[in-house]
Amino acid sequence: MPLIINNELGMKHFVFSVIGILCLIIVFSSLIYSQDEPVKSGMKIFIKAKCNKCHSVKSQAIECSKMISFACDLSKVGDSLSTDFFKDYLMKRVKLNNKKHLVAFKGKSTELDILCIWLQKLRTMIF
Ligand code: HEC
Repeated sequence: MPLIINNELGMKHFVFSVIGILCLIIVFSSLIYSQDEPVKSGMKIFIKAKCNKCHSVKSQAIECSKMISFACDLSKVGDSLSTDFFKDYLMKRVKLNNKKHLVAFKGKSTELDILCIWLQKLRTMIF
């Protein structure tokens, strides 16, 4: 059945509701997108910083780029360590198992923030 709008008031209502619905869609999709953003860019920064030269993250389908990965897989690293710890550890300010990290992170501090939030989200999946 075709939509019939037969008076001016009805037309105004129709136009305003369409604009309202469009605004809601834009707001919600940007909220969903921004929540997703650290996840996607965390992975990008990980690759850009060449962390995958030594580490794999199997749960995210990141393989170690060398034939033998001599450092551990980071799929569950967020289980026991916090975002702040990652920041200090990757800047070689603190030790883990009595050792500082092999290399210091060389990117921007905003990139380090996103990377560490992403690392913290790498946890054991329970299905
Ligand atoms: C040159 C090799 C190398 C590179 C490059 C490297 N790492 Fe590591 N990383 C290690 C080694 C070795 C350890 C010590 C523990 C181990 O054997 O996995 C470690 C440990 C870690 C740990 C602690 C894991 C745990 O629970 O013991 C985290 C987190 C980590 N690295 C993150 C990163 C991130 C993020 C990057 C990129 C910015 C990176 N690493 C780049 C070699 C490397």
